[in-house]
Amino acid sequence: MSDEAFTRYTLHLADDVAGDDPEVRDLLAAIQPAGWEEIDGGRTIRFWLRRESSDPEEGARLERLAAFGALRAAAQEAGWQDGWRRFHRPVRVGAVCVRPPWYPAQSDALDVVIDTGMAFGTGSHSTTRLCLEALQDIPRGSLIDAGAGSGVLALAALRLGFAPVWALDNDPVAVESCLRNAAANGLEPHVMLGDVTDAATPLPDADVMVANLLQGPLLALARRLSEPSSDDWAPARLVVSGLLEEQGDVVADALEGYGVVRRAVSGGWLLLDLVRRA
Ligand SMILES: C[S@@+](CC[C@H](N)C(=O)[O-])C[C@H]1O[C@@H](n2cnc3c(N)ncnc32)[C@H](O)[C@@H]1O
Repeated sequence: MSDEAFTRYTLHLADDVAGDDPEVRDLLAAIQPAGWEEIDGGRTIRFWLRRESSDPEEGARLERLAAFGALRAAAQEAGWQDGWRRFHRPVRVGAVCVRPPWYPAQSDALDVVIDTGMAFGTGSHSTTRLCLEALQDIPRGSLIDAGAGSGVLALAALRLGFAPVWALDNDPVAVESCLRNAAANGLEPHVMLGDVTDAATPLPDADVMVANLLQGPLLALARRLSEPSSDDWAPARLVVSGLLEEQGDVVADALEGYGVVRRAVSGGWLLLDLVRRA
């Protein structure tokens, strides 16, 4: 991936805007940056967008974001991917430690090494942490990680004793990153390129699906799960995140065949743990 393909944006929030302002989070989530980082205790947000975006709304969303402070765009300097290294630190969630390869393993933890490159999933995002926590509390079985990104959840699931594990993503860059991380961990999830919301993507009949996606794909997934043809693969347990707190009810209602057994919130993000109704 060439450095020229990205623009780096820096948003300095105005003094009267809260660091966790829901509209700012909402806009960032909708823009789906290739990566982001928060600095100055969350008062400055840096994010990277592909120059050739296919999102017709992107310009309008950036304009709305600019209203929350000062937004600057800069051509991305060469070698910027290495900048991630400063922000990628070990993350401990219960028994699991997600770490970059340049930190040593923790002897008392289930070790997951992640070198994300451009894919989402260093383990540090609230939604990833919520999923890592939830996976530790549910019965083991076969599992699909829908929207696997770097593969962090699929690899943690294998370490936690889920098997077999499938890792699915619709972004070839994520699939490549997932394969690399799997090899680095000596683990073998079944890695697949495909859209989980598309009935043309065949899915294995797994016990558990973890889906850290945004509201839009989760609603599309809910529609797919309510089709009669989904009966042969609809998972008994569904763990979904990537939702803002206020989006929970809409998604829970759309997942008609499922009942919520637990909700967890972190930093304004929500996780729903659902069980398929008999
Ligand atoms: C928020 S990231 C989650 C990454 C990782 N699972 C984690 O928890 O840190 C969402 C991932 O879902 C993928 N994705 C988005 N929509 C998808 C879809 N419809 N089907 C499959 N993957 C999708 C994106 O490419 C991205 O890698």
